[in-house]
Parts: sequence; C-alpha cells; structure tokens
Amino acid sequence: MLDGKKNVLLAVTGSIAAYKAADIARGFIKKGYSVTVMLTANGAKFITPMTFETLTGSKCLVDTFDRNFKYEVEHISAAKACDLLLVAPASANVIGKIAGGIADDMVTTTILAVTAPKLIAPAMNTAMYDNPIVQDNMKKLKAYGYQFIDPAEGLLACGDTGRGKLADVEDILSVSQGILEETENETEKVSGTELSDLNKSEAGEAPDYAAEAGDAPDYAGRTVVVTAGPTQEAIDPVRYITNHSSGKMGYSLAEAAAKRGAKVVLISGPTALRVPENENISFVPVVSASDMAEAVFTHFEKADILIMAAAVADYTPKTVADQKIKKADGGMTIELARTTDILGTLKDRKREGQFICGFSMETENLLGNSRKKLVKKNLDMIAANSIVDPGAGFGHDTNKVTIIARDGEESLPLISKAETADRILDAIIKRVK
Ligand SMILES: Cc1cc2nc3c(=O)[nH]c(=O)nc-3n(C[C@H](O)[C@H](O)[C@H](O)COP(=O)(O)O)c2cc1C
Repeated sequence: MLDGKKNVLLAVTGSIAAYKAADIARGFIKKGYSVTVMLTANGAKFITPMTFETLTGSKCLVDTFDRNFKYEVEHISAAKACDLLLVAPASANVIGKIAGGIADDMVTTTILAVTAPKLIAPAMNTAMYDNPIVQDNMKKLKAYGYQFIDPAEGLLACGDTGRGKLADVEDILSVSQGILEETENETEKVSGTELSDLNKSEAGEAPDYAAEAGDAPDYAGRTVVVTAGPTQEAIDPVRYITNHSSGKMGYSLAEAAAKRGAKVVLISGPTALRVPENENISFVPVVSASDMAEAVFTHFEKADILIMAAAVADYTPKTVADQKIKKADGGMTIELARTTDILGTLKDRKREGQFICGFSMETENLLGNSRKKLVKKNLDMIAANSIVDPGAGFGHDTNKVTIIARDGEESLPLISKAETADRILDAIIKRVK
C-alpha cells in the first residue's frame, strides 16, 4: 500500500510493445491505484523513464546501484510496498531470468524480493514464444504461483503473424484488478494455487512443476467432445445470421483437455482461430446450427464428457433463398424457425456415466437463469459466462465464469480463458464417475 492506495509495481522490459506500458500505467492511475514503474536497461531503449515519471508522479526505477534517492534499499522497499507485480510487456529474456532465479538488474532483483501476487504478460515473436525453452520457463513460473495473461494472435511488429502480441491493455488491466480485489480476501485462491502453498514455495519448498495441474494426465483414457464458436444461419447465398462468439473459450477447453491426456473432438463453427495442431484433437468444422446438432449427436455416442461452449443459434431463417435477395423499396421481414435444442435432445440420449457441461450467457439474472437451465436440460454442470464484466465474454482472451454444479458453485475471478478452461476441467474431473 502507498498513501492508502493499493500499489502496482509495473515492470517494463525490452519489447517493441513497451510503448503500451504507458497506457497500462495510466489505466491503473485512472482506476485509483498508485503505480511504481521499473524499466530494464533495454526497456529504456524503447520508452523513457521520463514518460512513466510524468504519468505516475514517482521515480521510475532502472538502476539497482543508483544512489540518487532517499536512503532506502530501493529494490527491497519497492518489492515490499506492492500489492501486485505486473511484468508487461515481459520479454523472453526476463521470463527466463526470473525462472532461473537471476537477479542482475533492478527489475529481476526486485521481482525476486516480491511476495505479493505476480502477473506476467509476455510479448514476443511467435517462434520465440513457441520455443520449448520459453514454454518450460513459463510452466516453471506457473508452478511457483506466477499468473500469466496469454499473448494474443495477430500481425506482429516483426511482420510475422501468430501468437505473441501483448494481450489487450484493457484485458491486462481487468485481470490485474481482479487479482488486486481477490487478494483482499486471503482465503481465496491465486491461479489455482492456495496462497498458503504459494507462501510455502516462497519459503523455500520447491513445488514439483513437472506435475503442474495442466500437465497431469487426469483425462487420459477419456473422450471429451467440445463445441466452440458461433453458427451461421444462411438467409441467401451471401448473407447469414450469426453472433459474436470468437470460439476462444471452446478452443482453450479443447487444448487444455488434450494436454491433460484426453482424446478430444472439437466441433467448431466458423471462427478466425487456427485449427489446433494436436494429434489428440480431431477437428470437425460445421457452419449452421443444424450441422452442429448433427455433429454433436454423432460424436456424443462415444463421449465420456461433452462441453457445449458454442453459441448455437436458437433461430434460423425458415427458408433460404436460392439467389441473392434483391433490395426493394420498403422494409423486409425474415421468418425464423426454431433450431434443434441440442442439450434438450441429449437429455434423453445421455447414458449412465456421461457428463454434460453446458455454457450460458445472459444479459440479466445470469446465475438464476443458469441454475434453471442446469435443471431443465438435466446438465451436470453449467459454466455461467459474464457478459457485463469488462474483459469477460465474447472475443476477449479473459473470462469470468461461475461454475454451477448440482453439488455446489464456484465463482472464478477474471482470468485468462486458458486458465478458466483448466479450472472448469478441474471441476469436471472431480465429479465424473
Ligand atoms: C526492435 C526490437 C524489438 C524487440 N521486441 C522484443 C519482444 O517483443 N519480445 C522479446 O522478448 N524481445 C524483444 N526484443 C529483444 C530484446 O530486446 C532482447 O532480448 C533484450 O535483451 C531484452 O532485454 P530485457 O529483457 O532485459 O529487457 C526486441 C529487440 C528489438 C531490437
């Protein structure tokens, strides 16, 4: 805490995305937090300390051996005063140094001394991000309780297209805020790790990071069918009705289940996402609600677990015009027909031992309506998706979900969709027979 305000210690590293850290710092200030910025020497080649000093009103820390300040061991006092450490953007180099326990500059020395929650937002070229060394470093840090906000996909500054773009600034701010609010209640969990476990590792007990939750083959031998994305309901050969689903939640679930040993069938409506390259994921592309229903009914037979994360249209045009409908004077009406209620139909086809997790997204009374849906559709679990919280729902890389099961509920904080997927899979595996 600084001056009665929660303090964010923002570490900025040598990435082309460093300029976005100015917006991050400003965003925290606007939300009423105090911000201290640390910059690596290479980070200072991309953005100057003066920018941050002007935005935050406090000294930007670069040099561990700078004696030009009130006498305090600065890296220790900055570490003690913070309620959240955020590294954004985090270079491959700094991630590697933290994972290796290296403390050879202001940023890495301070990070080693921080006991508050730590959030890392990587940004780098796709090949660097996919490099198994970088992936291993991140896995190690996750096992030590560090949280990550995954980079986005897109056109990178180096001209490549792929994963590695710094996550959206608004998403970084929302996730950080979620963590800061969550730490107010010390009994709550951080990134699936109890705070007490986190403290244990800080006290010197090394967790077995090879046995991280996402790696445990607890889904081995199970077939998981996941639906994802929107559907497209044709009006004529060039027009259709759809919704804003990006497919990110469903793809994250498919990837997480495959990583945990499941054979996965990913049934996906049209999305802009890359088809997962994983030999344990069979990809089934569909377009309309009726294609989706047919594919689900086919694959449900052999499924142990079905997770319906797709946003399937409830209505479809009653007839599809053969030719492009010509515009004419006046308005026009499209008559819609109800699509097949997939979950409603599966209710009667479900075998003993099969587990069904639905998703719900409502603009009002989310939890009440989701509980009703759980009962009406005879589901085992429903993941209620927030659409109102900033950073949650359609298109974002983060989500805020409440898991509603027959025997209890769990509200997850705003976390990445990848982490949400693991928490949903944790909740399912506990309950499957
Ligand atoms: C123009 C340019 C852009 C760079 N962007 C990134 C980046 O986005 N991510 C990254 O990990 N490294 C990037 N690098 C390489 C890092 O700056 C380099 O690894 C450096 O040693 C990182 O130092 P630091 O981690 O101490 O800040 C970039 C280098 C240049 C010259």
